Amino acid sequence: MRIVLLGAPGAGKGTQCKRIVAKYGLLHLSSGDILRRERAEDTELGRKAQEYMDSGALVPDQIIVDMMADAINKAPVTGFVLDGFPRTVHQAEELAKSLASAKQKMDVVLNLKIDDQMVVQRMTGRRSCPQCGAVYHIENLKPKIEGICDNDGTRLVQRPDDSAEVVENRLKTYHLQTEPVVDYYNKNNCMVFDIDANKDVGEVSGLVFEELDALAKA
Ligand code: AP5
Repeated sequence: MRIVLLGAPGAGKGTQCKRIVAKYGLLHLSSGDILRRERAEDTELGRKAQEYMDSGALVPDQIIVDMMADAINKAPVTGFVLDGFPRTVHQAEELAKSLASAKQKMDVVLNLKIDDQMVVQRMTGRRSCPQCGAVYHIENLKPKIEGICDNDGTRLVQRPDDSAEVVENRLKTYHLQTEPVVDYYNKNNCMVFDIDANKDVGEVSGLVFEELDALAKA
């Protein structure tokens, strides 16, 4: 299965992707996680991406398209789930071209729909583990010990781009540049399912699994 997860920042893409890969054995390819890894390793790509990420803007398309093509080429035959990519119509077009050259296409797009005010609450309360990447929330998804990762005991951190001001810019960027990607997939006859992402984590997973189970049986 080849799946794209679309949705605003904080819609729960990363949270749901982790559940999808655990159930269906797919590879999770998150453009945001790859960029953060490049930054942590202080690579040239990471340094180029830094100022865009910190301000809530998108990293230029060509950098992202090359980076994700490389990651997709290394994916196993069982398939992958894309999280945070494509984020512009140009990225979606480039992805389609590169899949077509391998005689492939996306099987399904899951569009996580969420209200803007819910996004702000989720992002400002998010905490993540710098060691294993686990994601928590100070109210909705608490670790067993406050501020400590359940998996490896590392102290949790807040992402620098989760401040209220940067979240506002990320939302603007999403509405302007990423929402049109949903229309792109609708117009190009790809199966698109809207999922109500305002619901709690388990309910959203239930809706996602319903669609994916039906697809797997078809
Ligand atoms: P990226 O890391 O992709 O950030 P994003 O899309 O803004 O999404 P997030 O990771 O912030 O949120 P999410 O939807 O995964 O939510 P999560 O599951 O964590 O990108 C960061 C930056 O990199 C971009 O701004 C850009 O600069 C650059 N970039 C990345 N990709 C790019 C591209 N393709 N092109 C150009 N630039 C790119 O959940 C959030 C919180 O809510 C958590 O605390 C979680 O526990 C909680 N939560 C989740 N679901 C629920 C629920 N149902 N109920 C209650 N709480 C919930």
